[in-house]
Amino acid sequence: MVSRVIPVDPFDLVIFGGTGDLARRKILPGLYRRYWAGQVPDGVRIIGAARTEQDSDAWRVFVRAAIIEFVAEAKHDPDVIDAFLKQLHYIPVDARGDGGWKDLAGMMREGVTQAFYFSVGPGLFGDLAERLHRFKVACEDCRIVVEKPFGRDLASAKTLNATLAQHFDEQQIYRIDHYLGKETVQNLMAVRFANVLFEPLWNAQYVDHVQITVAEEVGVGGRGGYYDKSGAMRDMVQNHLMQLLCLTAMEPPSRFEPDAVRDEKLKVIRALEPLPPEDIVRGQYSAGDEPSYLEDVEDPDSRTESFIAMKLHVANWRWNRTPFYLRTGKRLNARNSEIVVHFKQPPHSIFDADAGSKANVLSIRLQPDEGMDLRVTIKEPGPGGMRLVDVPLDMSFAEALGPEAADVPDAYERLIMDVIRGNQTLFMRGDEVEAAWAWTDPIIDAWTERGDRPLPYAPGSAGPEDALILLHKDGRRWREITP
Ligand SMILES: NC(=O)c1ccc[n+]([C@@H]2O[C@H](COP(=O)([O-])OP(=O)(O)OC[C@H]3O[C@@H](n4cnc5c(N)ncnc54)[C@H](OP(=O)(O)O)[C@@H]3O)[C@@H](O)[C@H]2O)c1
Repeated sequence: MVSRVIPVDPFDLVIFGGTGDLARRKILPGLYRRYWAGQVPDGVRIIGAARTEQDSDAWRVFVRAAIIEFVAEAKHDPDVIDAFLKQLHYIPVDARGDGGWKDLAGMMREGVTQAFYFSVGPGLFGDLAERLHRFKVACEDCRIVVEKPFGRDLASAKTLNATLAQHFDEQQIYRIDHYLGKETVQNLMAVRFANVLFEPLWNAQYVDHVQITVAEEVGVGGRGGYYDKSGAMRDMVQNHLMQLLCLTAMEPPSRFEPDAVRDEKLKVIRALEPLPPEDIVRGQYSAGDEPSYLEDVEDPDSRTESFIAMKLHVANWRWNRTPFYLRTGKRLNARNSEIVVHFKQPPHSIFDADAGSKANVLSIRLQPDEGMDLRVTIKEPGPGGMRLVDVPLDMSFAEALGPEAADVPDAYERLIMDVIRGNQTLFMRGDEVEAAWAWTDPIIDAWTERGDRPLPYAPGSAGPEDALILLHKDGRRWREITP
């Protein structure tokens, strides 16, 4: 077992939507991995809640299957799984009805941390908040965890914030963006703020541009109904890409504390310039022999984008005119998420022009393999004179810190443990979410008003041709999307 863990006190965690897909694939396997790591002590109770009428034993069968399917085989010790399952309970509850709530209230213990994970559709968040209060289920300082999507525009996000605020303080609300739970995203902060090497160069004087890519190989698949109502802008940019942009562009917070970090992120969103239409490319996968987007959704005339690329500017002293290029899409040629900081060329080269020279590039990979690498220019070994070559300075956690470091928690399990510890640093504050929608709304409204059609792109490509041109126009090119 891995030993480098911070112990927590016993807690009660209720998972609304305990029979759903997210619970099955992420939350429950994640909790089991934390149990394996020694972080879910005796006395913890994990309570599944959903409408399905079943007893705790039936839910345990579901959870066991989820563990077998989604946890690495090396952790399939039947005795450990049995011991974990003993801490699990199930209670049928309808978010829109009154049944089950009094029973749930009776199960909650006083004097332990109480957390309620809203892993249900967003239409139920308000119902859950209201009933937790009305049936006196939750203690005064309980925590609620709210899944995405947090609204679909500024108005709905404000309404949801206001609904939650009727029953909970901001300090009790944990809005999940699981990208923030990724090891490398936090490492981005460590690299920036725990070293002197990078921060002096982290500005318009030394950074040529930044690229943020979240590329998916899969299409909208079974989620077509949901996705077609949101599209890449709402589903990915407003939350995940915006958060990655904030962490890359923000000023150093005074401390690594929730409000200090979130204040700085908010300033970045507020400093974003409005986007001119020529700096956005929308796409929809459609050409080729494979199923097109329109075959994956119900509306045969859908104008929802499955791809978006854009050029942003953060209007402040640090980033003056430094472009941030963001892109995300489905059915692209590989699954790859990364933040890539392209530094400028040295101001003057002392080497011959034919020696070749490459600018430094720092890439922070989020998936498929989390890690960082920095490309530096050195002399090509050998007797061929001064020829320059760029090589990776690979920051591999596993090699430097030993195999335990490679066994990093998945984003969800890390975030759940942060909820239990009461640390909101990696969760979005209400005003951040609203600011992101305030920036996004006019862009989406303009598309709707103009009736814009996304450009077609071939499944398995890097997106529409115009996305490449977006950078070519500036004399730059996208990094290849590699698996
Ligand atoms: N799945 C993912 O990968 C993923 C990723 C990111 C975010 N999310 C978000 O996570 C949330 C859950 O997604 P999901 O994919 O797990 O959805 P799902 O598979 O459809 O599960 C929904 C869950 O909600 C329960 N439920 C539905 N109506 C209910 C009601 N009236 N009262 C109580 N429980 C009710 C369902 O159980 P019963 O039918 O038994 O009531 C089920 O457990 C959504 O907000 C989604 O946007 C999901």
